[in-house]
Amino acid sequence: MPELTLETISNLAKKRGFVFQSSEIYGGLRSAYDYGPLGVELLRNVKDQWWRSMVRERDDVVGIDSAIIQARKVWQASGHEQVFTDPMVECRNCNARHRTDKLADPDKCPTCGKTGEFTEPRDFNLMLRTHMGPVEADENMVYLRPETAQGIFINFENVRRTNRLRLPFGIAQIGKAFRNEITPGQFVFRTREFEQMEMEFFCRPEESAEWFDFWKKARFDWYTDLGMTAENLRLRDHESDELSHYSSGTADVEYLFPWGWDELEGVANRTDFDLRQHAEHSGEDLTYFDQEADERFFPHVIEPAAGATRTTFAFLIDAYSEDTVNDETRTVLKLDHRLAPYKIAVLPLSKKAELIEPTQKIAAELRKRWMIEVDVTQSIGRRYRRQDEIGTPYCVTVDFDSLEDNAVTVRDRDTMEQERVGMDSLVGFMTEKLF
Ligand code: GAP
Repeated sequence: MPELTLETISNLAKKRGFVFQSSEIYGGLRSAYDYGPLGVELLRNVKDQWWRSMVRERDDVVGIDSAIIQARKVWQASGHEQVFTDPMVECRNCNARHRTDKLADPDKCPTCGKTGEFTEPRDFNLMLRTHMGPVEADENMVYLRPETAQGIFINFENVRRTNRLRLPFGIAQIGKAFRNEITPGQFVFRTREFEQMEMEFFCRPEESAEWFDFWKKARFDWYTDLGMTAENLRLRDHESDELSHYSSGTADVEYLFPWGWDELEGVANRTDFDLRQHAEHSGEDLTYFDQEADERFFPHVIEPAAGATRTTFAFLIDAYSEDTVNDETRTVLKLDHRLAPYKIAVLPLSKKAELIEPTQKIAAELRKRWMIEVDVTQSIGRRYRRQDEIGTPYCVTVDFDSLEDNAVTVRDRDTMEQERVGMDSLVGFMTEKLF
């Protein structure tokens, strides 16, 4: 297969309705994207799989959904107002702005190619601002959250008390986050509005190293379990000068994107930094009392923090493949069936009424359990190709023999093998395939 480019994958995403440029009919808004019918299913499936493995399948993690707009004091206490910055330079020649730490040559503008035209670097705060209420005054200024994590820390005591939780336990959240990135780009990889999947795991301080190792492994395995190629994934420990202001140790799960290794998720040891800060700034007691040990202390926190939109993009890239069938190139998205937007496509061989009726009946049955599509237009070959290209694991074809033998043909996306299955046993057959 030829080397996959960013252009190939973004073209497929746009052509098939996974992702559209935001505000496209007005010329587009840079670095903002809308998820189309297929993209929204894929993104939702990624988030559902994360929630399943992080919350539903564990007896020590619960979920929350906190507000995007929080008191400004939250971001003062967390340190974001002071230090959530990227170093930025501006080119005096073309006025382009760049993140200093991402420049290949610290003197050369990648936009116009001139050297020696950069201004002095300055720290640019990444938080997006708005105002609450009708008056645009300083005292009404609020930030859109740049991470979902703080919504968890400020609810630590609410959740612990109402759910009678004992250490160790985690609180998970999926939701939108906003950062005024200086250099957004690489399609949906780095955007100013995106979604995160984060979990704060609270534990005794002396157990934090063990949990750090546990979550690094668990998070790496999550990607491979959902079919991501292990050779395209690695865990990389941060150097001490890379660490965020709250972290005593971080390891990134990185993916081999078309432009090289880049971050998918960070697993950080946040120590007791956030709970201490919020206790100090709010005056609330955010310590934990361990009855058995008769001790009161601030729990330490291990945080696996993943990007939902970025991870979805990585799954899309990883699933992309091309092969040759009858001298024609076939594009296939080899998505794990748990992530595929449609699980089954039901395709009548012809548009004739006698085939449409059983097609609708079968579709109605399958739709009760799975996201499916019925497609009646174009030749059967072209319809198979389209389903391959959007990652549908199974196609069910209703043909004229079906009217006689009460059976349909089930075609497997990856092997292209076909099997005749009785209509009465179709749901059972598919249940085994789509466990
Ligand atoms: N609470 C910790 C935290 O937010 P982070 O490494 O800044 O850590 C976590 O963000 C994840 O969120 C990243 O690994 C990435 O997947 C995603 N993410 C961060 N900035 C993003 C952006 N501008 N666009 C898309 N995803 C982003």
